[in-house]
Amino acid sequence: MRAYYRCLKPLVLWREAARPLDWATLFGRAAPVELEIGFGSGDYLVARAQQYPERNFVGVEMEWAGVQRALRRIAGAGLANVRVLLGDARPILWRAIAPQSLDRVYTLFPCPWPKKHHHKHRLLDPRQLQLINSRLRAGGECYLLTDHAEYFQWVLGNLTDTGFTAFARTVPPQVDTKYERKWLAQGQSRFYELTLTKTQHCPVPLLEDVAMETYRVRQFEPARFQPTDVNEDIHVAFKETRYDPARQIAMTRVVVVEDDLTQHFWIEIVRDGDGWRIRPAPGCGVVPTVGVQRALDAIRDACQ
Ligand SMILES: C[S@@+](CC[C@H](N)C(=O)[O-])C[C@H]1O[C@@H](n2cnc3c(N)ncnc32)[C@H](O)[C@@H]1O
Repeated sequence: MRAYYRCLKPLVLWREAARPLDWATLFGRAAPVELEIGFGSGDYLVARAQQYPERNFVGVEMEWAGVQRALRRIAGAGLANVRVLLGDARPILWRAIAPQSLDRVYTLFPCPWPKKHHHKHRLLDPRQLQLINSRLRAGGECYLLTDHAEYFQWVLGNLTDTGFTAFARTVPPQVDTKYERKWLAQGQSRFYELTLTKTQHCPVPLLEDVAMETYRVRQFEPARFQPTDVNEDIHVAFKETRYDPARQIAMTRVVVVEDDLTQHFWIEIVRDGDGWRIRPAPGCGVVPTVGVQRALDAIRDACQ
């Protein structure tokens, strides 16, 4: 039988929330904040939050299945000092986390993406290291534990101008996560540990939302409606359009890819007096960006 998550309270809907996230409000107290990137099933996030009840913990994970498992664990342990965010840590750091608001950022056994053409997916490239530095307070720490020697060397090669001093060593198993257990079972008994201490500040400002311009057009012909994809620095792909003639509302499914942020959402075209209103459909949790504006522009153009 499938086990259900027990409580959604620790889940923070970062796309819908006021940004940057206000930790004191989210946790109901001011305390040092640690952020785990890619917590998997939340083994270590929960263990560490139990170990340090005087600290606040934020976990970011891309996979919903992992978030569900972590929510179960958090509820099972009765923890009030953990919040979890579903999504890619990179846009979250860019757009939702204020500069100098974290005390520690850590990632355990991140995917090493060994193939060269997959390196773009790797965590801790030079730009991300500067971003993490900017989100840490003075003296804050970024911590990496990995099984993968080549990825470890790659991260060590990325440290120039990131404002960190580094301490690297190999260590025995110590965090008891799924991936540590996996590599241990396959015979690996030493792992690569990197502790980065912030000694200089890298100023990387928060990426702010753009002011959205929604549109009202005079004409919309569902049968002829075919918005054009955008393939520039920003990619906008229109996937499908559904039209309900009874309610005079069309919904177009869009994917917008810009920098590290990918958004899937719907845009509605809805009868409004003698014209049609074009806007992101309510409830989609869209982060207002230049790419979302391009999607709205393309729909307006397709109506005219
Ligand atoms: C190899 S697993 C390790 C999981 C866990 N830390 C452990 O030690 O068992 C890597 C995890 O990082 C997550 N992940 C990868 N890239 C991420 C990103 N950019 N933001 C958030 N999570 C990410 C993956 O979904 C996956 O759950």
